[in-house]
Amino acid sequence: MNKTLPEFRLNSPQGKSILALARGADFAHPGEDRVIELVASGLLPNRSLRLLDVGCGRGGTAQWFYEHNFGQVTGIDIDKPSIEYARNKYPHVDFRHADVSHLTSFHGDSFDIIYSLNSFYAFTDQLLALHEIRSVAKPGSKLLIYDYTKPLGGRLPEALGSEIGRPIVKEDIKIWLETSRWKLESIHDFTNLYSESYIQLLQKFELKRDEILKLSDQEWYDFITRWYGALQLALTQGTLGGALISAIAVE
Ligand SMILES: C[S@@+](CC[C@H](N)C(=O)[O-])C[C@H]1O[C@@H](n2cnc3c(N)ncnc32)[C@H](O)[C@@H]1O
Repeated sequence: MNKTLPEFRLNSPQGKSILALARGADFAHPGEDRVIELVASGLLPNRSLRLLDVGCGRGGTAQWFYEHNFGQVTGIDIDKPSIEYARNKYPHVDFRHADVSHLTSFHGDSFDIIYSLNSFYAFTDQLLALHEIRSVAKPGSKLLIYDYTKPLGGRLPEALGSEIGRPIVKEDIKIWLETSRWKLESIHDFTNLYSESYIQLLQKFELKRDEILKLSDQEWYDFITRWYGALQLALTQGTLGGALISAIAVE
């Protein structure tokens, strides 16, 4: 039976499990532990703080923040199987099945630190997401978004299809943050780190080919190697980038 395209979704449970296997951890962001350390480097661990991981996937990042005593961690994701996996594997983190566009069940909660690692690009309405995230923050709360970027007016390579979602355009995010009551603090370019980490990921696909084939099949293997090959090329050519954006909630 021929597989139809929607089955090859990198953000599907199958896609995420292949990536977790290749990376050797429950992450689906480039740079793995090294990036989490970078994101956390400006934060002070404090058990009384509340952290929200938006688009937490299989929960590896939320667990890292828990283990490093950054506070009480909640992770949300639209993908139910990922949340169920995370709940079973990391019982000390509060994982909830939720869409960032509808955080109504969290109203009344307020988080001190909200971070999103390589998930923002996948949100359908990014401005709405910023408003919703702001609704569970309080003045002074910190927002950290680590994600793909693209130049204003730039065209993304066709080979990346809809899987690449909506990489952040710096000029847009500046305005969106302001309209959703966030004050932009900084945008640090991490294109080189993205690029290096995808070279390493492609090497891991090759090294772990047999294990990946056991977990999925040849069509999946071809899909991921082709897709990440095109992604790596786009990062080298500058049609795609990566950045860490930091903002503070304002009144
Ligand atoms: C590339 S994965 C990154 C996962 C995780 N942050 C990590 O670094 O391992 C993107 C995640 O965003 C989630 N996602 C996409 N749209 C979402 C939405 N509207 N609300 C919440 N999560 C969403 C996907 O299900 C997926 O788990």
